[in-house]
Amino acid sequence: MRDEELSAALLRWYDANARVMPWRVGPEARRSGQRPDPYGVWLSEVMLQQTTVAAVRDYFRRFTERWPTVGDLAAAEDGQVMAEWAGLGYYARARNLLKCARAVVSDHGGRFPETAAALRALPGVGPYTAAAIAAIAFDEPATVVDGNVERVVARLFAVETPLPAAKPELTAHAAALTPRTRPGDHAQAMMDLGATICTPRNPACGICPLVTACRARAAGIAARLPAKAPK
Ligand code: ADE
Repeated sequence: MRDEELSAALLRWYDANARVMPWRVGPEARRSGQRPDPYGVWLSEVMLQQTTVAAVRDYFRRFTERWPTVGDLAAAEDGQVMAEWAGLGYYARARNLLKCARAVVSDHGGRFPETAAALRALPGVGPYTAAAIAAIAFDEPATVVDGNVERVVARLFAVETPLPAAKPELTAHAAALTPRTRPGDHAQAMMDLGATICTPRNPACGICPLVTACRARAAGIAARLPAKAPK
């Protein structure tokens, strides 16, 4: 399959199988033009760093009920936000969260910048988060690479170079796969595929939408990729 066919097959799979998450827009709403709220996308991506989707759901609901917009969050007292964050861990993230909300209000009039490059300048927003927000909220064809995406492309293209040396190669493959249309759905489809089918152990290749294109599967080495350098 060519890269375009791969991403088309992946998007078809995502339309039928996307995990329901409170910060996502479902397929029907999306067809009628609804876009995800950049504030919700940013908040969820910060929460999802080092924390599982299952654990993040309730925190996300409580935050957005209490502070429905980035302006509301920016105006919150530090202690209230830290208390609401309690249990998510990595408290530097919560401090950066507030700094970022306040920067969006003071430097950008309360609206998130719309490109990965501009998002990158916000406190606590690294390359992954900037690319995720740009792709998911603003449809910029930015390439989003997390551990799930690394595993999917390592297997798809049978990259046997161990991590972390393989990162540039994996990012290049991920970039080549990123479509011009629906890049945010593509990114989330890659992450969902990695989380639910192309799992670290016992990948469910039998139900994978990309199985016929997967070089690691063909070579019988899917379960041992990506390789890790010995410590
Ligand atoms: N992990 C981090 N961000 C995610 C997202 N938007 N969808 C699925 N998994 C994720």
